[in-house]
Amino acid sequence: MKWAVLTLALMGVAWAELAPPERSYKILMLLPVSSKSHRNVFLPVAEGLADRGHKIVILANHPPALNHPNVEEIDHDLPDFKTEAMDLFATRADPAGVFRMFQNVLPIIARKLYKVPKVKELYDRRKEFDIVVIDHMFNEVVYPFAYEMPFMTIATPGMDARQSAVFGNVLNPAYAPSLMKTFPLPMSMMQRFLNTIEHIKSAVNWRYLDVLPSVQKEISSQFPDLPPLLDIERNQSLTLLNSHFTVTGVLPLLPSQVEVGAMHCRPGKPLPEDLESWISGAGSEGVVYFSLGSVAQGQSMPTKYRDMFVEAFKQLKQRVIWKYEVALEGVSDNVLMRKWLPQQDILAHPNVRVFITHGGLLSTQESFYHSTPVLAVPIFGDQPKNGINIQASGLGLMLVWEELTVELIVNSLQELLNNPKYRTTAEEVRSALRDQPESPKDRAVFWTEYVIRHKGAPRLRSPAATLSRLLAGPRVPERRQEEEGVSFLG
Ligand SMILES: *[C@@H]1O[C@H](CO)[C@@H](O)[C@H](O)[C@H]1NC(C)=O
Repeated sequence: MKWAVLTLALMGVAWAELAPPERSYKILMLLPVSSKSHRNVFLPVAEGLADRGHKIVILANHPPALNHPNVEEIDHDLPDFKTEAMDLFATRADPAGVFRMFQNVLPIIARKLYKVPKVKELYDRRKEFDIVVIDHMFNEVVYPFAYEMPFMTIATPGMDARQSAVFGNVLNPAYAPSLMKTFPLPMSMMQRFLNTIEHIKSAVNWRYLDVLPSVQKEISSQFPDLPPLLDIERNQSLTLLNSHFTVTGVLPLLPSQVEVGAMHCRPGKPLPEDLESWISGAGSEGVVYFSLGSVAQGQSMPTKYRDMFVEAFKQLKQRVIWKYEVALEGVSDNVLMRKWLPQQDILAHPNVRVFITHGGLLSTQESFYHSTPVLAVPIFGDQPKNGINIQASGLGLMLVWEELTVELIVNSLQELLNNPKYRTTAEEVRSALRDQPESPKDRAVFWTEYVIRHKGAPRLRSPAATLSRLLAGPRVPERRQEEEGVSFLG
């Protein structure tokens, strides 16, 4: 009985239900510049709100994905930002290339977006909505929608020190990782210094030097009376962070920074017959699952690395399931390849022993949630940070592509398969992540409704949000309430 209750609690069944909403709200979600994984962070929030009877309109650069009567999904159809076309392995050789890509593409999108008839139409009726919800990353171009509106964001990559500073929560670079470049904690003196530079550099480059000024120029020419985008950004009431301290580490948060990471995670469902029999047929040796996620296609992997995995898998007693998009010669019989796989259902299977992943944030959350030890091979962006977290938490190991050898892959997998400490840690991180008073999705729903109910929730705002700061942009305080101040000391 005790076990049954615990199991139910761990599965989320025992979570308390939210009180019914006061009325049906109209909610506008804007993520016109988003990768599939950023979009996937919005979907559970949209679904959760739609299930409560609210009407959701989503503007994105993806075909509709939710088939829900309360959700309308609009694809703006501009071809300028398509992550499917990106070669992530090429970005390893030239990380600045990604930055240049945004530098080129964002002003173009700013110029074209409001000329798309369905976007213009949406902009014109934006005041019909109760709130605007924007993807905080790469989407300054839609801040005109948020002007004079209750407005919140979803921080799809989790904590971003630049964004935290906008709320008035300037994080200490002595221990707060930067988004794109990370050192294992605790940092050495030198690493803290470099991390401080990184905090400043990433904010200044994006906001003042390379990217935003040209977006601002395009927006100003179409909306001459609008305040600067960075001022509009400052008016956001709340952000839902795609993080959880058990996965991504502990940082000081304001009441307006709400962690909702692992929202998309759910208990495993039964697998299709063929996969189920492949996995259980592996017997006591178990199965290794290998996927580089939705943005990095397996086939974009350089041949020399691909050959190493093919060779390494030949040496395993385990069966391997590999997400790979095209047929491949010379693969041993213990390997099953598919171009699409139900990842969470596979990870949830008790006979799946190791997950080889690029360490995308959603895959990382899934590995914690389903307690699957991880071999992380991060490619770019925030993935190295996630890999470091995975290693530091004891859930797995991280390898660097340029250092890969067949022997290293085999040895790392053997260590993960044979050393029981990874399994034990995996069970611990799972129960720590799942032990929450409400589901992260319900939390996202609650706080979105809260901001609407309280008309932008001004009581959530930190006084620090009105100060001028390097990381967040200059700001002239709107008004001073007491010229003299009040003192009890006379
Ligand atoms: C700032 O937010 C409040 C509450 O959300 C909203 O009513 C107001 O119009 C916004 N101001 C600007 C300048 O956008």
